[in-house]
Amino acid sequence: MIEVRSLVKRYGDTTVLDCPDLTLDGAGVTALVGANGAGKSTLLTIAGRLLEPTSGTVLVDGHDVTTAPSRELAARVAILRQENNLAVRLTVRELVEFGRFPYSQGRLTDDDHRLVDRALDTLELHEFAARRLDELSGGQRQRAFIAAVVAQDTDHVLLDEPLNNLDLRHAAQSMAMIRRLADEFGKTVVVVLHDINVAAHHADRIVAMRSGRVVADGEPSTVIDEPTMREVFGLDVEVTEHHGRPVVLHFLAS
Ligand SMILES: Nc1ncnc2c1ncn2[C@@H]1O[C@H](COP(=O)(O)OP(=O)(O)O)[C@@H](O)[C@H]1O
Ligand SMILES: [Mg+2]
Repeated sequence: MIEVRSLVKRYGDTTVLDCPDLTLDGAGVTALVGANGAGKSTLLTIAGRLLEPTSGTVLVDGHDVTTAPSRELAARVAILRQENNLAVRLTVRELVEFGRFPYSQGRLTDDDHRLVDRALDTLELHEFAARRLDELSGGQRQRAFIAAVVAQDTDHVLLDEPLNNLDLRHAAQSMAMIRRLADEFGKTVVVVLHDINVAAHHADRIVAMRSGRVVADGEPSTVIDEPTMREVFGLDVEVTEHHGRPVVLHFLAS
């Protein structure tokens, strides 16, 4: 369970996040959507303990992310950041093995190796396993970072725009894998998605943000309508339906 409580982030006089209360409980995929600068990454990186809030807190299974020991949290919550420019000299396999570090402290067990191989398989990375990250395309590198998060095998998974740089097939595969994390492995997944239609199709719940605040929260069919899309993205769109899920036609806007 992830509980956001009275969470505020300010830079100087500017409040970029003001989230009084948000609870994510149980298996499922929650999509975080909103325009650039809405505060999505700020919320996710605080929950992933990579950024200090100005005030308030996030509890993961009751553990305060700002004070709990980082090893304790690393076994509970994994985060894929929007910008991953670190560690380019690692190989793909080494990066994914890092996902096991909270458990193995560098000495991988057979179980650790099994989880690493499973993650490499799922993301179709075996052929690149020995390749260094700076020898990959942007999309291949993105998949390696997703694999590291999958290998970490935590109950809570936070993904910030995981489909960046992915071609259509790998984007679809990654979303299918993200669904499996919830459906087969019972994880609580929070994913920032750029494409509202991908969110509408795959998410159980959509949390829409604008100017640091949650402005809509619920099932895709309740959140995705023309007024809310106008409020969230500042754009007139047409909403239609496909297989019972809303579809946003945004390219019709003039
Ligand atoms: N280090 C920083 N200093 C000042 N403002 C920042 C900093 N980091 C982020 N911001 C601002 O916080 C707001 C929210 O950013 P972010 O959470 O990255 O938005 P999103 O992920 O929704 O695009 C933006 O207006 C951004 O410019
Ligand atoms: Mg962002």
